[in-house]
Amino acid sequence: MAAAHILGIETSCDETAAAVLGEDGEIRSNVVASQAELHARYGGVVPEVASRRHLELVSPVVREALDRAGSTLDDVGRVAVTQGPGLVGALLVGISAAKAIAWARRLPLVPVDHLQGHVASLYLGPDPVEPPFLCLLASGGHTLLLDVRVRGASELLGTTLDDAAGEAFDKGARLLGLGYPGGAAIDRLAREGDASAYDFPVARVPGLDFSFSGLKTALLYAVRELAADELERRRADLAASYQRAIVRALVERARAAAAERGLQRIAVVGGVAANSELRGALAEAAFAPLELCTDNAAMIASAARYGRSLEYPRYLALDAYASLS
Ligand code: KG4
Ligand code: ZN
Repeated sequence: MAAAHILGIETSCDETAAAVLGEDGEIRSNVVASQAELHARYGGVVPEVASRRHLELVSPVVREALDRAGSTLDDVGRVAVTQGPGLVGALLVGISAAKAIAWARRLPLVPVDHLQGHVASLYLGPDPVEPPFLCLLASGGHTLLLDVRVRGASELLGTTLDDAAGEAFDKGARLLGLGYPGGAAIDRLAREGDASAYDFPVARVPGLDFSFSGLKTALLYAVRELAADELERRRADLAASYQRAIVRALVERARAAAAERGLQRIAVVGGVAANSELRGALAEAAFAPLELCTDNAAMIASAARYGRSLEYPRYLALDAYASLS
């Protein structure tokens, strides 16, 4: 039988990840080594530290993905890798590893856009979401509204003018003394708080774009007004109110975009799609499976099924890109 598995590699930020998809696109393994603890003491991802850690982890993570899939490189027919956007030094580690594996085996390589990877997380799992749909992609690096009509392509409708939604969660968590990364911590703490305690503003920008920086400043002022013991008492209320404001902005704009485009279905992907309040507030939407919301390589391998393969050895000069083109 022809080798038909796809080996995916993802190193765009602070997760070193590798996954194997079977020939029908089923997940055979999905290994994610998070570096979050390494970066926590700095309150955010330090690019140079991330690159070095990827370098240490990429080979063992790829090996583990193959082992868990019960595969060897003989079963792999294509190598997929995140080309961008992300931290260039981090991306280059994954790209170099992917090139080396593909080159040694004379295999084709598929460069994958990280954001298309997030969208392609919807095509994995037992109930794949089929286009057309309006996709809300909310992660640590991006907040996008995409019109998706076919697998593998999308049209950008809106984006953030300043911070990404996940970044707003992370910066808010930092102001509240909750550590990094903060989205999940705010999500947990908010359950004990009163979301109507503070009236944080939802920025109104024209069109289908987002803005979260004013909200972050509003939280900063609210925190500054409180003495240490008061802050301790109000922390859950602040977290709940802050989360409510972010979720409201996401829900409003996603629904407006779907209506404008005549799209019947909304799908949500990216790290912030793990947020429990967002999952409740957009009850009509389809969400990526929880374990596939945050960065992983299964979604990269999934996107590769609809991407452009570069035949051996045309990919040797392949470079990373840092930002959305
Ligand atoms: O997609 P992702 O893993 O990485 C990027 O591509 O950026 O997203 C990470 C982001 C972080 O900002 C993190 O705080 C946020 O997703 N996040 C959450 C939750 N879990 C992760 N935000 C809100 N609620 C959550 N439960
Ligand atoms: Zn991501």
